[in-house]
Amino acid sequence: MIQSCPAKEAELNILALVGSPRLGGNTNFLVDQALEEAAKLGAQTEKIILSEYTVAPCLGHDDCGSYKSCVQKDDTSWILDKFCEADGVILATPVYYYNVSAQLKAFMDRNYFLYMHNRKSKAKAVGIIVVAESQGIEDTVHTLKRYINESFNVPKDKILELHGYAYELGEAKNDPQLVERAREFGRKMVKSLTEK
Ligand SMILES: Cc1cc2nc3c(=O)[nH]c(=O)nc-3n(C[C@H](O)[C@H](O)[C@H](O)COP(=O)(O)O)c2cc1C
Repeated sequence: MIQSCPAKEAELNILALVGSPRLGGNTNFLVDQALEEAAKLGAQTEKIILSEYTVAPCLGHDDCGSYKSCVQKDDTSWILDKFCEADGVILATPVYYYNVSAQLKAFMDRNYFLYMHNRKSKAKAVGIIVVAESQGIEDTVHTLKRYINESFNVPKDKILELHGYAYELGEAKNDPQLVERAREFGRKMVKSLTEK
């Protein structure tokens, strides 16, 4: 007798896009803490460090809505596909001159292709991680929230934030409260993706 397999429960996947080029830096460290906690709760996680790929700045063709794919053939298109398909997305950046890093800004601008095709990420929750030495967090969060408003369909209560202060390479590791807030952020990401 043929038995049908029980339906496998769909796994949650969380994609983190990191705008810091410092591999052992504070942003990467905090993202790793959050993703580790999310993985412990069963999420499939992936981290893309944007500086490891070619994500060229938008060239501003206003006619890109009439093209099947962006005229710039670099890594952005497959990253955008993952971004559209992820259940949860984390956008992480150090503060560079009171705003997101150039790496993350280039990625954000390349979303224009999606915008011109009426496409948005299907993510149900979005996380923001911002690290600064001392100032500019508010402006950076503001920029990210405006962008999230354009590129996702998520209610305000599904936008999670983590910000902290750190400067030297790896300094965030020595701030136990910040580390715990990053872990809690990872757990909250999973919670907000699983609760109705
Ligand atoms: C180009 C550049 C610009 C920066 N601008 C600011 C800034 O406007 N405000 C601030 O508080 N820190 C600023 N910083 C410091 C970084 O935000 C801080 O060192 C952060 O911890 C770096 O994160 P990371 O270790 O993940 O790369 C800047 C650093 C660089 C390299």
